[in-house]
Amino acid sequence: MKELLVAKNIGFCFGVKRTIEETEKLLEKFSSLSTIGDIVHNPIIIEKLKSKGLNVYNSIKELKGKYFLIRSHGLSKKEIEKIKKLGFEIFDLTCPLVKRIHNLVENLNEKGYYIIIIGNKNHPEVLGIKGYGKKINIIEKKRDFLNIKDKKMEKVAVIGQTTLNFNYFLDFVNDIINRVNANEFLVINTICKVTEEREKEGIEIAKKSDAVFVLGGKKSSNTKKLFNICKKFCANTFHIEKISDLSKINLDKFKKIGIVSGTSTPHFFINEVIEYIKKF
Ligand code: F3S
Repeated sequence: MKELLVAKNIGFCFGVKRTIEETEKLLEKFSSLSTIGDIVHNPIIIEKLKSKGLNVYNSIKELKGKYFLIRSHGLSKKEIEKIKKLGFEIFDLTCPLVKRIHNLVENLNEKGYYIIIIGNKNHPEVLGIKGYGKKINIIEKKRDFLNIKDKKMEKVAVIGQTTLNFNYFLDFVNDIINRVNANEFLVINTICKVTEEREKEGIEIAKKSDAVFVLGGKKSSNTKKLFNICKKFCANTFHIEKISDLSKINLDKFKKIGIVSGTSTPHFFINEVIEYIKKF
């Protein structure tokens, strides 16, 4: 008899849920919508939306159509302007928490702060946020400090990508304060509580389980982080993107199986995985 430990904080976060629901409504109305990049990092959802008329492009140059959707990660002001100039009607589905960071960066910019974003340099959310400031730098690795170490600055504000782990953020903040030469530091916690809660719960579940299944897209940064965190506490941690990934795992070996998910994982997929394990 197997025991399943299913996380309470599971499935879509409110930002992703809102984006998908609004996209579906817009697709019913317009039947064709254009966007740049996956609107959420989950291939199952993307395929479903594509079949309803969502067209995903890689860059502004390639864009076709009349209606444009800004995904939950947000987009820089400059890019939005370019898309407007091409004649698109724009629907903004940026997560409200990311939007809050855009406003914050604009405000800090007006007040003359040099802004440091701790996060992934290539992540669309971080690139979007960067577009709202002028004196702004992304720190992803400790060696990135070399770019700013010798500058003498008046005021420095530090923010983070929404999906960062809080301790990781604090570690970088400490380094910035020690290495950067400034008269004033302002540190703002911009980490989304949703991912923090999932990480905490993931640790609890991983500690009690023989195996943990982390459900979500392979491109989803919060799912990857959740996987790495759970792996520290349970060696048999598996990243499951599609149901066929389960066939490669010998479920016989495990009695207690933990189930956690990233923020862009649909409930129907979670239920499918649970049913698969139950049948087994
Ligand atoms: Fe928004 Fe947090 Fe989800 S930033 S998209 S509610 S993970």
